[in-house]
Amino acid sequence: MGIMSEPFSGKRIKSGIPGFDDLIEGGFPDQSTILITGSTGTGKTTFVAQYIYKGAEEYGEPGVLVSLEERAKDIRREMEQFGWDLEKYEKQGLIAIVDGVSSISGIPSEEKFVLEDTLNVDNFLRYIYRVVKSINAKRLAIDSIPSIAFRLQNEGEIRKVLLKLNTILLEMGVTSLLTTEAPDPKGGKISKYGIEEYISRGVVLLDLQEKNIELKRYLLVRKMRGTKHSMRKYPFEITSRGVVVYPSGEIY
Ligand SMILES: Nc1ncnc2c1ncn2[C@@H]1O[C@H](COP(=O)(O)OP(=O)(O)OP(=O)(O)O)[C@@H](O)[C@H]1O
Ligand SMILES: [Mg+2]
Repeated sequence: MGIMSEPFSGKRIKSGIPGFDDLIEGGFPDQSTILITGSTGTGKTTFVAQYIYKGAEEYGEPGVLVSLEERAKDIRREMEQFGWDLEKYEKQGLIAIVDGVSSISGIPSEEKFVLEDTLNVDNFLRYIYRVVKSINAKRLAIDSIPSIAFRLQNEGEIRKVLLKLNTILLEMGVTSLLTTEAPDPKGGKISKYGIEEYISRGVVLLDLQEKNIELKRYLLVRKMRGTKHSMRKYPFEITSRGVVVYPSGEIY
Protein backbone atom coordinates (compact mmCIF):
# COMPACT_ATOMS: atom_id res chain seq x y z
CA MET A 1 0.00 0.00 0.00
CA GLY A 2 1.36 3.40 -0.89
CA ILE A 3 1.17 6.64 1.02
CA MET A 4 -1.83 7.73 -0.98
CA SER A 5 -4.12 5.30 -2.70
CA GLU A 6 -5.91 6.40 -5.81
CA PRO A 7 -9.28 5.28 -7.04
CA PHE A 8 -8.85 3.17 -10.16
CA SER A 9 -11.58 2.62 -12.69
CA GLY A 10 -9.68 -0.03 -14.65
CA LYS A 11 -9.34 2.32 -17.61
CA ARG A 12 -5.92 2.36 -19.27
CA ILE A 13 -4.04 5.24 -20.83
CA LYS A 14 -2.00 4.30 -23.90
CA SER A 15 1.68 5.10 -23.57
CA GLY A 16 2.30 5.78 -27.24
CA ILE A 17 5.43 3.60 -26.95
CA PRO A 18 5.23 0.67 -29.40
CA GLY A 19 5.45 -2.62 -27.52
CA PHE A 20 5.23 -1.12 -24.05
CA ASP A 21 1.50 -1.36 -23.32
CA ASP A 22 1.67 -5.14 -23.83
CA LEU A 23 3.77 -5.29 -20.66
CA ILE A 24 1.20 -3.53 -18.45
CA GLU A 25 -2.24 -4.84 -19.41
CA GLY A 26 -2.85 -2.25 -22.09
CA GLY A 27 -1.51 0.99 -20.67
CA PHE A 28 -0.97 3.11 -17.58
CA PRO A 29 -3.77 3.01 -15.01
CA ASP A 30 -5.97 6.07 -15.61
CA GLN A 31 -5.34 9.02 -13.28
CA SER A 32 -2.16 7.75 -11.75
CA THR A 33 1.38 8.96 -11.16
CA ILE A 34 4.16 6.94 -12.78
CA LEU A 35 7.87 7.33 -12.20
CA ILE A 36 10.26 6.99 -15.13
CA THR A 37 13.67 6.44 -13.63
CA GLY A 38 17.14 5.75 -15.00
CA SER A 39 20.65 7.10 -15.12
CA THR A 40 21.81 9.73 -17.59
CA GLY A 41 21.18 9.12 -21.27
CA THR A 42 18.83 6.19 -20.72
CA GLY A 43 15.99 7.86 -22.64
CA LYS A 44 13.79 9.40 -19.91
CA THR A 45 13.12 12.67 -21.73
CA THR A 46 12.39 10.90 -25.01
CA PHE A 47 10.03 8.45 -23.28
CA VAL A 48 7.92 11.14 -21.61
CA ALA A 49 7.93 13.47 -24.63
CA GLN A 50 6.70 10.55 -26.76
CA TYR A 51 3.90 9.92 -24.24
CA ILE A 52 2.76 13.54 -24.62
CA TYR A 53 3.26 13.72 -28.39
CA LYS A 54 1.56 10.43 -29.26
CA GLY A 55 -1.20 11.23 -26.80
CA ALA A 56 -2.10 14.20 -28.98
CA GLU A 57 -1.34 12.64 -32.36
CA GLU A 58 -2.86 9.19 -31.93
CA TYR A 59 -5.41 9.57 -29.17
CA GLY A 60 -6.42 13.24 -29.33
CA GLU A 61 -5.65 13.59 -25.60
CA PRO A 62 -4.31 16.99 -24.50
CA GLY A 63 -0.99 16.88 -22.65
CA VAL A 64 1.37 19.18 -20.77
CA LEU A 65 5.14 18.71 -20.83
CA VAL A 66 6.94 20.55 -18.04
CA SER A 67 10.57 20.87 -19.02
CA LEU A 68 12.86 21.84 -16.17
CA GLU A 69 16.11 20.63 -17.71
CA GLU A 70 15.94 21.70 -21.34
CA ARG A 71 14.51 24.78 -23.03
CA ALA A 72 11.24 24.21 -24.86
CA LYS A 73 12.88 25.04 -28.17
CA ASP A 74 15.59 22.43 -27.61
CA ILE A 75 12.94 19.81 -26.85
CA ARG A 76 11.07 20.71 -30.05
CA ARG A 77 14.23 20.43 -32.11
CA GLU A 78 15.25 17.08 -30.59
CA MET A 79 11.78 15.64 -31.11
CA GLU A 80 11.76 16.82 -34.72
CA GLN A 81 14.49 14.23 -35.26
CA PHE A 82 11.92 11.55 -34.57
CA GLY A 83 9.54 13.13 -37.07
CA TRP A 84 7.39 14.69 -34.33
CA ASP A 85 6.02 18.16 -34.92
CA LEU A 86 5.20 19.31 -31.38
CA GLU A 87 4.43 22.84 -32.55
CA LYS A 88 1.59 21.65 -34.74
CA TYR A 89 -0.25 20.30 -31.70
CA GLU A 90 0.75 23.27 -29.55
CA LYS A 91 -1.05 25.50 -32.06
CA GLN A 92 -4.11 23.25 -31.83
CA GLY A 93 -4.10 23.52 -28.05
CA LEU A 94 -3.44 19.80 -27.65
CA ILE A 95 0.07 20.19 -26.28
CA ALA A 96 1.54 22.77 -23.90
CA ILE A 97 5.25 22.88 -23.16
CA VAL A 98 6.12 24.70 -19.96
CA ASP A 99 9.56 26.24 -20.18
CA GLY A 100 11.07 26.06 -16.73
CA VAL A 101 14.62 26.71 -17.82
CA SER A 102 14.79 30.08 -19.54
CA SER A 103 13.80 32.09 -16.50
CA ILE A 104 16.55 30.54 -14.38
CA SER A 105 19.13 31.68 -16.88
CA GLY A 106 17.59 35.17 -16.92
CA ILE A 107 17.08 35.12 -20.68
CA PRO A 108 13.74 36.55 -21.84
CA SER A 109 11.60 33.80 -23.28
CA GLU A 110 9.21 33.96 -26.21
CA GLU A 111 7.38 30.90 -24.94
CA LYS A 112 3.68 30.97 -24.18
CA PHE A 113 4.08 28.97 -20.98
CA VAL A 114 7.00 30.16 -18.92
CA LEU A 115 7.63 29.25 -15.33
CA GLU A 116 8.79 32.61 -13.95
CA ASP A 117 9.36 31.81 -10.33
CA THR A 118 10.90 28.38 -10.15
CA LEU A 119 12.18 28.91 -6.62
CA ASN A 120 8.80 28.85 -4.97
CA VAL A 121 7.34 25.38 -5.03
CA ASP A 122 3.79 26.51 -4.28
CA ASN A 123 3.86 28.87 -7.23
CA PHE A 124 5.22 26.03 -9.34
CA LEU A 125 2.35 23.74 -8.39
CA ARG A 126 -0.21 26.50 -8.91
CA TYR A 127 1.18 27.30 -12.34
CA ILE A 128 1.13 23.66 -13.47
CA TYR A 129 -2.46 23.44 -12.26
CA ARG A 130 -3.41 26.49 -14.37
CA VAL A 131 -1.74 25.17 -17.52
CA VAL A 132 -3.35 21.73 -17.11
CA LYS A 133 -6.77 23.34 -16.73
CA SER A 134 -6.20 25.74 -19.63
CA ILE A 135 -5.87 22.93 -22.20
CA ASN A 136 -7.97 20.44 -20.24
CA ALA A 137 -5.01 18.06 -20.16
CA LYS A 138 -5.41 14.33 -19.58
CA ARG A 139 -1.66 13.73 -19.66
CA LEU A 140 1.20 15.40 -17.85
CA ALA A 141 4.96 14.88 -17.83
CA ILE A 142 7.43 16.56 -15.49
CA ASP A 143 11.08 16.31 -16.49
CA SER A 144 12.56 16.13 -13.87
CA ILE A 145 11.84 15.73 -10.15
CA PRO A 146 15.46 16.39 -9.10
CA SER A 147 15.33 19.77 -10.81
CA ILE A 148 12.44 20.81 -8.56
CA ALA A 149 13.90 19.21 -5.50
CA PHE A 150 17.46 20.47 -5.70
CA ARG A 151 16.21 23.83 -4.51
CA LEU A 152 14.87 22.32 -1.32
CA GLN A 153 16.84 22.23 1.87
CA ASN A 154 16.31 18.80 3.34
CA GLU A 155 14.69 15.45 2.94
CA GLY A 156 11.69 16.38 5.06
CA GLU A 157 10.94 19.30 2.81
CA ILE A 158 11.37 17.21 -0.36
CA ARG A 159 9.02 14.60 1.06
CA LYS A 160 6.39 17.22 1.84
CA VAL A 161 6.60 18.76 -1.62
CA LEU A 162 6.41 15.41 -3.43
CA LEU A 163 3.36 14.41 -1.41
CA LYS A 164 1.73 17.72 -2.21
CA LEU A 165 2.65 17.36 -5.87
CA ASN A 166 1.09 13.91 -6.03
CA THR A 167 -2.09 15.05 -4.29
CA ILE A 168 -2.48 17.92 -6.76
CA LEU A 169 -1.81 15.63 -9.73
CA LEU A 170 -4.47 13.18 -8.59
CA GLU A 171 -6.84 16.06 -7.86
CA MET A 172 -6.42 17.27 -11.45
CA GLY A 173 -7.29 13.82 -12.78
CA VAL A 174 -4.27 13.60 -15.06
CA THR A 175 -2.09 10.58 -15.72
CA SER A 176 1.41 11.81 -14.98
CA LEU A 177 4.89 10.63 -15.83
CA LEU A 178 7.64 12.03 -13.61
CA THR A 179 11.30 11.49 -14.41
CA THR A 180 14.00 10.99 -11.81
CA GLU A 181 17.54 9.69 -11.51
CA ALA A 182 18.37 6.14 -10.48
CA PRO A 183 21.75 6.39 -8.78
CA ASP A 184 22.22 2.66 -8.25
CA PRO A 185 19.46 0.47 -9.67
CA LYS A 186 21.39 -2.75 -9.00
CA GLY A 187 21.86 -1.83 -5.36
CA GLY A 188 18.14 -1.14 -5.11
CA LYS A 189 18.43 2.64 -5.17
CA ILE A 190 16.01 3.34 -8.00
CA SER A 191 15.25 6.97 -7.26
CA LYS A 192 17.26 9.94 -6.20
CA TYR A 193 15.47 10.71 -2.95
CA GLY A 194 14.09 7.26 -2.19
CA ILE A 195 10.61 8.73 -1.79
CA GLU A 196 9.52 9.20 -5.39
CA GLU A 197 8.66 5.52 -5.83
CA TYR A 198 6.28 5.61 -2.87
CA ILE A 199 4.14 8.42 -4.23
CA SER A 200 3.94 6.66 -7.60
CA ARG A 201 1.52 3.96 -8.64
CA GLY A 202 4.10 2.65 -11.05
CA VAL A 203 7.85 2.67 -11.57
CA VAL A 204 9.52 2.07 -14.93
CA LEU A 205 13.29 1.69 -14.88
CA LEU A 206 15.30 2.50 -17.99
CA ASP A 207 18.69 0.86 -17.97
CA LEU A 208 21.89 0.41 -19.94
CA GLN A 209 23.77 -2.86 -19.75
CA GLU A 210 26.99 -3.96 -21.32
CA LYS A 211 26.76 -6.79 -23.78
CA ASN A 212 29.71 -7.72 -26.00
CA ILE A 213 31.52 -4.42 -25.36
CA GLU A 214 28.40 -2.48 -26.24
CA LEU A 215 25.79 -0.79 -24.07
CA LYS A 216 22.28 -2.05 -24.73
CA ARG A 217 19.02 -0.53 -23.57
CA TYR A 218 16.68 -2.40 -21.25
CA LEU A 219 13.43 -1.50 -19.57
CA LEU A 220 11.91 -2.94 -16.41
CA VAL A 221 8.43 -2.41 -15.03
CA ARG A 222 9.55 -2.31 -11.39
CA LYS A 223 6.03 -1.82 -10.06
CA MET A 224 2.55 -1.08 -11.38
CA ARG A 225 -0.15 -1.29 -8.73
CA GLY A 226 -3.25 -3.16 -9.79
CA THR A 227 -1.49 -4.60 -12.80
CA LYS A 228 -0.08 -7.99 -13.64
CA HIS A 229 3.36 -7.50 -15.11
CA SER A 230 6.53 -9.45 -15.53
CA MET A 231 9.68 -8.63 -13.55
CA ARG A 232 12.06 -9.27 -16.40
CA LYS A 233 14.01 -6.69 -18.31
CA TYR A 234 12.91 -6.11 -21.87
CA PRO A 235 15.14 -4.77 -24.61
CA PHE A 236 14.24 -1.44 -26.14
CA GLU A 237 15.73 0.91 -28.68
CA ILE A 238 15.66 4.59 -29.46
CA THR A 239 15.05 4.53 -33.19
CA SER A 240 14.48 7.25 -35.77
CA ARG A 241 10.80 7.00 -34.77
CA GLY A 242 11.41 7.19 -31.03
CA VAL A 243 11.29 4.58 -28.27
CA VAL A 244 10.34 1.03 -29.30
CA VAL A 245 10.05 -1.84 -26.78
CA TYR A 246 10.40 -5.51 -27.72
CA PRO A 247 8.01 -7.40 -25.45
CA SER A 248 8.79 -10.76 -27.00
CA GLY A 249 12.33 -10.79 -25.64
CA GLU A 250 15.81 -10.75 -27.07
CA ILE A 251 16.82 -8.62 -30.01
CA TYR A 252 20.43 -8.13 -29.04
N1 LIG B 1 17.39 10.83 -33.17
C1 LIG B 1 17.87 9.85 -32.40
N2 LIG B 1 17.98 8.59 -32.89
C2 LIG B 1 18.44 7.60 -32.12
N3 LIG B 1 18.84 7.75 -30.85
C3 LIG B 1 18.77 8.98 -30.33
C4 LIG B 1 18.28 10.08 -31.06
N4 LIG B 1 18.30 11.16 -30.27
C5 LIG B 1 18.79 10.74 -29.10
N5 LIG B 1 19.08 9.44 -29.12
C6 LIG B 1 19.63 8.65 -27.99
O1 LIG B 1 18.92 9.01 -26.83
C7 LIG B 1 19.80 9.42 -25.80
C8 LIG B 1 19.23 10.57 -24.99
O2 LIG B 1 17.96 10.26 -24.58
P1 LIG B 1 17.25 11.21 -23.52
O3 LIG B 1 17.69 12.62 -23.64
O4 LIG B 1 15.81 10.93 -23.64
O5 LIG B 1 17.83 10.60 -22.17
P2 LIG B 1 17.69 11.12 -20.68
O6 LIG B 1 17.59 9.91 -19.84
O7 LIG B 1 16.61 12.13 -20.62
O8 LIG B 1 19.09 11.80 -20.46
P3 LIG B 1 19.53 12.99 -19.47
O9 LIG B 1 20.16 12.33 -18.32
O10 LIG B 1 20.50 13.77 -20.28
O11 LIG B 1 18.32 13.78 -19.13
C9 LIG B 1 21.02 9.90 -26.50
O12 LIG B 1 22.14 9.78 -25.67
C10 LIG B 1 21.07 8.97 -27.71
O13 LIG B 1 21.73 7.78 -27.35
MG1 LIG C 1 16.56 14.08 -19.96
